[in-house]
Amino acid sequence: MSAVEATPETTQPKGTPPRERQWFHSAVVYQVYPRSFQDSDGDGIGDLRGVVRRLDYLATLGIDVLWLSPIYASPQDDNGYDISDYQDIDPTFGTLADFDDLVAQAHARGIRIVMDLVVNHTSDEHPWFVESRSSKDSAKRDWYWWRPPREGMDAGAPGAEPTNWQSFFSGPAWELDEATGEYYLHLFSRKQPDLNWENPEVREAVYAMMRWWLDRGVDGFRMDVINMISKDLPLRDGRVLDHGPYADGSPFYICGPRIHEFLQEMHREVFAGRSEKLLTVGEMPAVTVDEAVLFTDPARREVDMVFQFEHVGLDHGEHKWDRRPLELAELKASLGRWQAGLAEVGWNSLYWNNHDQPRAVSRFGDDGQYRVESAKLLATVLHLHRGTPYVYQGEELGMTNVPFAAHDDFLDIESVNYYRAALGLGRSPEDVLEALREGSRDNARSPVQWDASPHAGFTTGEPWFPVNPNHAEINADAELADPDSVFHHYRRLIELRHSDPVVADGDFHMLLPEHPSIYAFTRSLDTQTVLVVANFSGDDQPVDGLPGEEDWGAAELVLGNYPEPGAGLPPLRPWEARVYRRRA
Ligand code: NOJ
Repeated sequence: MSAVEATPETTQPKGTPPRERQWFHSAVVYQVYPRSFQDSDGDGIGDLRGVVRRLDYLATLGIDVLWLSPIYASPQDDNGYDISDYQDIDPTFGTLADFDDLVAQAHARGIRIVMDLVVNHTSDEHPWFVESRSSKDSAKRDWYWWRPPREGMDAGAPGAEPTNWQSFFSGPAWELDEATGEYYLHLFSRKQPDLNWENPEVREAVYAMMRWWLDRGVDGFRMDVINMISKDLPLRDGRVLDHGPYADGSPFYICGPRIHEFLQEMHREVFAGRSEKLLTVGEMPAVTVDEAVLFTDPARREVDMVFQFEHVGLDHGEHKWDRRPLELAELKASLGRWQAGLAEVGWNSLYWNNHDQPRAVSRFGDDGQYRVESAKLLATVLHLHRGTPYVYQGEELGMTNVPFAAHDDFLDIESVNYYRAALGLGRSPEDVLEALREGSRDNARSPVQWDASPHAGFTTGEPWFPVNPNHAEINADAELADPDSVFHHYRRLIELRHSDPVVADGDFHMLLPEHPSIYAFTRSLDTQTVLVVANFSGDDQPVDGLPGEEDWGAAELVLGNYPEPGAGLPPLRPWEARVYRRRA
């Protein structure tokens, strides 16, 4: 991804009328990746009863919404993002009765449950696809994207794929079905065929399934790659990528021509007339600010907020495996632009981590000497932005990346496929291993570190993925007992969002946009202004040049990440973050 141009100060226009307050402005979402959260039956894989067991922990943290990564029936080719039955629970995770119990127990603690909705594609083992592939005349043939080989070429010949697109998981985005001699489209793995949303029967089947879950008591959906469901027809070749034989097909499936129509139809068919308290979140790679405004404008009735990826692409070179250091000014320019762009209409999701991203403290902070300070700093900066913050399991403990020793330590399909493809293109195994260590999604997927026991309290069996050896030191038990822990810092930030309208709804104003180490901004509402200053470096940094600097010296210190904060606005210590409040 190219560097984001530094912009001047990004400010919400003053004098804009306050917009309608929504419940999720003061809410915090916690993401559970069930496979790695908590095992209850000793098979080494996390499950729903395990989630129930930890609900009190989540209630102590104070979160409002629990987003569950997929728990549906699945062959687990992509850890559940390949669904073979949308209306059943995978036996690995439990049963529908376990699920109902989770919903009831979460609701009893005031926590809403949001499901992952994966409807850009199904598993190739879903009965819809099994029927679709059975013959060219199948009634469901058109539910997926079937195409003959490229004109003049034989099925299976090199380059005979209907378009030259690369899949997200390496290799071509088309797979030949030998029986019918046609190819099907899969933007992800070959076991994740894309659904054809042009077909109204597909859309109705998806909406019916969504209504079924809402009737069962769930509180909304996080919609997986939902801005890819509308394809630009006819499907055609894209620009060939510099790093391989295939092409970038994204212009033909990112925010395609019918995307807004589909989401508005989904809203009408699924959400209209139901509780205002349901949550809809669109995961949208490569979405622009302008598109995001349209998606999240409440008047358009599409989704409540989008998950965008610009800021987590700033340390990528040409592609995600090609890493470069993060420039703080670029991070501020990017997040500041999103704050300004959605200031009047729409709403942001705020996150550093999820199950697809390396651990933030290792990536943007310092997971050595200043692990605790930098984890708290990242939390402070993010949670004080305007938008709904997301905490990914273990982030609240300051969990770090995994010390991978060799390429066969990686289990994630994206990483495994990339290793093979990159070696095929002549890259050295050492280089590719280094890229995987830094960028692999597996960094986020090691089990949650509950205690210092051999499997970190995650399982009594053999964990499906080894626990990080640093669990002896970094674990929930230790952090709950320590009032200065990363956990309690997150708890305080969540409390602040709940109790303080300036955090939930205040205007955002970026300061010192060009400063290479200091991240500074204000939030203001009515007579209150909150200032956040954070030192993204391991050196002391004076905070010079803030507008109204002299007044901040006497302001109330709301929160800091050093035990002895001292008075006024002194130079910031390594990875120090402070939050001040002033009333006019
Ligand atoms: C985005 C999800 O977050 C990721 O984990 C998954 O592999 C792809 N979509 C495909 O569903």
